[in-house]
Amino acid sequence: MKGRRIDARVELEFLRATEAAAIVSGKLVGRGDKNAVDQAAVDAMRSVLGEVDIDGLVVIGEGEKDEAPMLYIGEHVGTGDGPAMDVAVDPIDGTTLASKGGHGAISVVAAAERGSLFHTHIAYMDKIIVGPAGRGHISIEASVEDNVRSVAKAMGRPVTEITVALLERDRNNEKVRRLREFGARVRLFGDGDVANGIIAALEERSRIDMLMGIGGATEGVVTACAVKCLGGDMQCRLWLREGEEEVAREEGIDPNKVLTLDDLCRSDLAMLAATGVTDGEFLQGVSYVRGHAYTQSIIISSLTDTMRMVDGKHDLRSFSSFPSVNGQATSHVKEHVV
Ligand code: FBP
Repeated sequence: MKGRRIDARVELEFLRATEAAAIVSGKLVGRGDKNAVDQAAVDAMRSVLGEVDIDGLVVIGEGEKDEAPMLYIGEHVGTGDGPAMDVAVDPIDGTTLASKGGHGAISVVAAAERGSLFHTHIAYMDKIIVGPAGRGHISIEASVEDNVRSVAKAMGRPVTEITVALLERDRNNEKVRRLREFGARVRLFGDGDVANGIIAALEERSRIDMLMGIGGATEGVVTACAVKCLGGDMQCRLWLREGEEEVAREEGIDPNKVLTLDDLCRSDLAMLAATGVTDGEFLQGVSYVRGHAYTQSIIISSLTDTMRMVDGKHDLRSFSSFPSVNGQATSHVKEHVV
């Protein structure tokens, strides 16, 4: 890292941030209020990140300063006394899932050396993500059939055994149709690009071999930090909505450029921490038992070349300053303890 060397303890500090966000927002799961659940996660995450000894700059956050008072793009996080890092936060990936009590919402923080993470105001990108076995065998410019064929060959498996996950959106329908016709196994998910992208890159989980399709651009950059550490591969291309050509021009980005993993995360020192908010295939969600919260998290880091699954038991009194933990996050909600 520039200036000061990054201390491996930072990984655990990021973990504390996602744990806190999951614990605090987890109390609001299923209440149908996605803004409240997101706000609770943002408050908790920001509070913990403020204590970390880094000179952090939020490059992927809750929006511009005028629309997001906390964890906005350009906000400095950390004590300022430490290495300069780019920080990408997604306090909840799957806010709608969390608000409905659905499966697979997580809280995520990723980070890498200062200046190394790609950022744009364009909302979506087309992505392909694979694990180490598929590395070097994908191309966002090639057809979906060629990509699946090439990854299947590299894995030594028939196409009919390759599972491709895609976000279930109309804009991905054509890819889904072609993949089905080609004989690949298709898995559609409603929300949660980051978790599904990481599963695709994890050799240890073989349920998804590839992630394809158009999803959030910021989620793509967050995922890239994990893919880099895991030795997987990723290629993307921005997907412009009407009027976004202007945004690309202002940002000096060629929207047709193929974004490789190194374009998304230039640094070889990257890390990602995530904690389950609701139960999912990637991580178990938070549960609350007798004054404690139980969490399941993952830390993936190229700093220590580790991937760690971390189960936590937390005394809820440590989180008592957060309104949602006390049942005060929305004015009409009362906490009933039985
Ligand atoms: P939110 O948590 O912001 O709702 O994002 C959930 C998500 O599914 C992402 O994982 C994904 O990249 C994005 O939404 C897709 O956006 P859209 O719902 O607009 O298609």
